[in-house]
Amino acid sequence: MILSEWGWEIREEESFGMKHYTVQFQPDNLVTTIHAGATLLEAAGQAGVVLATPCGGIGRCGKCAVRLLPTEKEVLACQYIVEHDLAVLVPDSSRFFKQKILEHGIYRKVDRFPSVQKIFFGNPPSQIETLCGLLADKVSVQIVPNRQNETLSSQLRSYQQSGVTAILSRGDCAAQNALPSCYHLTEFEPGDTTKKLYGAAVDIGTTTIVARLTDLNTGQGIATTSAGNPQSQYGADVISRISHCENDSGSEQLHSAVIGCLNDLLQSVARQAGIECGDIYEMTAVGNTTMNHLLLKHPVHQLGQAPYQAYSLDTADRKPKDLGLQINPAGNIHVLANIAGFIGSDTVAAALACGMDITDTKTLLVDIGTNGEIVFGTQSRLLAASCAAGPALEGAGIAFGSRAQSGAIERVFMNGVDLDIDVIDSVQPTTLCGSGLIDAIAVMLELGIIDSTGRFCDRCELDPMLLDSIRRRVITHNNEPAFVLAGNYTKNQWNEAVFLTQKDIRQMQLAKAAIRAGIELLLQKAGANTESIQQLLLAGAFGNYIQKESAVRIGLLPNIPIEKIHFVGNAAGSGAQMALISQDARKMAKKLAEKIDYVEIAHQTEFQMVFSEFLLFPEN
Ligand code: FES
Repeated sequence: MILSEWGWEIREEESFGMKHYTVQFQPDNLVTTIHAGATLLEAAGQAGVVLATPCGGIGRCGKCAVRLLPTEKEVLACQYIVEHDLAVLVPDSSRFFKQKILEHGIYRKVDRFPSVQKIFFGNPPSQIETLCGLLADKVSVQIVPNRQNETLSSQLRSYQQSGVTAILSRGDCAAQNALPSCYHLTEFEPGDTTKKLYGAAVDIGTTTIVARLTDLNTGQGIATTSAGNPQSQYGADVISRISHCENDSGSEQLHSAVIGCLNDLLQSVARQAGIECGDIYEMTAVGNTTMNHLLLKHPVHQLGQAPYQAYSLDTADRKPKDLGLQINPAGNIHVLANIAGFIGSDTVAAALACGMDITDTKTLLVDIGTNGEIVFGTQSRLLAASCAAGPALEGAGIAFGSRAQSGAIERVFMNGVDLDIDVIDSVQPTTLCGSGLIDAIAVMLELGIIDSTGRFCDRCELDPMLLDSIRRRVITHNNEPAFVLAGNYTKNQWNEAVFLTQKDIRQMQLAKAAIRAGIELLLQKAGANTESIQQLLLAGAFGNYIQKESAVRIGLLPNIPIEKIHFVGNAAGSGAQMALISQDARKMAKKLAEKIDYVEIAHQTEFQMVFSEFLLFPEN
């Protein structure tokens, strides 16, 4: 099994022979697998290492410098092409979060204090009550033995020779602020197993699920992997999945699909780290509210109809066997709190990782995906909204659209004499992915191929100075105008062409208008405007690959200085990892979920007006 550009797990035989390489980032100890021809910057984004990229990755600023190990030779991550397995050292000076923007931003430091602990007794007492007394001395907490006293007592007696490791779990106490603080004694293991203490943080997206393994003894991430959410077979978006639950066993199918995928991912990260799934004792999960409900087997029908209420917004803790997850049976699964029916714990985790609960900088956090989520404000007031952008940015509904996969055009730009493209894996271009789509439209606007309404200009309206190399790219397809991005031009004719149609442009207008209308109305609700934004943080896997300039040019993002826009990678995953290694972070997440006010955008009377306004592309 190997990973594609966006982390889709694909079978070796489906990879058309493309090569993939492993890149290890130190000192984070994060490992990712990426296709040949990707840059180190892309690999870093995929691994969850957020590098500083003030120049937008064009090789000018020098801020993304990393060192190749073992030589320590310095290279620019945005320019260095991965062509073999690599180990890389990332200096603090090249990290985004070390820059002044968000001192407590992504991977903000939290004290390691996981909600599961192991303590070894070489000469254990034979009575469980005596051992509980000893434990209370060691961890300064009140021990609340759980119901399995009988089993635990017999385990304790039979492990006298080997010594015994006691497993202590805070379970649901960690997020509940329970006083006095309590640990549950959940299990004894023979011998000293204290070194085997791992946790997994998972981000369950509608389209992609990401899992990150962490050593709970050190707090260091060890391995990350991802896969397409198999629930997609029952519907591409949350609404169609909610509808699927109306069928008999629909909910069960969706639940089983996500559990099966999580078990596969857990096995995959465990394999990468050379451990067993049974060595994983704690898991944190984040996702949108529907994903969390399906994971927890909560009813979802009410999420599909006004007023779109969640069955529960609260945190949840479950035993592995209750969900069918194959981590250690003595472990615990903690699902972070949601904000509202359409804004889930993934947004809470992203806001947590970006330090939005402690910043005084007016911050706009945008997670672009099939469902866009937006948070704006400072620690004193935070508002959030959700907008249904639809799947155009992931390639659906676009003539040559695809996810970022081998052969997809991912960049489109002018090289002075003609259009130029970058293709994933540097192979024959066959499709166009979201970042390429945004670039292509930005270029078409600049060249005057389309106007600000998105309409293809008539040939007679084209700039007379337009280069022939560009002019010949404007073709007619099925009696509609189209613009060729790639293909073979011979005898005044295009072969094997990849092109954009008028309908594609319209699809993109709908997607970007939904996101921009969401941003605009949220700012209005906060009594702010575009000028108020002191920093814009772009989260999510998709965000890492787009050109900021192109996103601003087509009006997907507000027109603010480029240097105020930062990619923060999978911030939701980072927040989930914080909650994995720190009980304090868990409490902070719960507070954030309660603090962030949800703003219903789509049903505001102004929505249609603002949406229509943003269907237009900005004038040059
Ligand atoms: S040189 Fe500026 S991001 Fe690499």
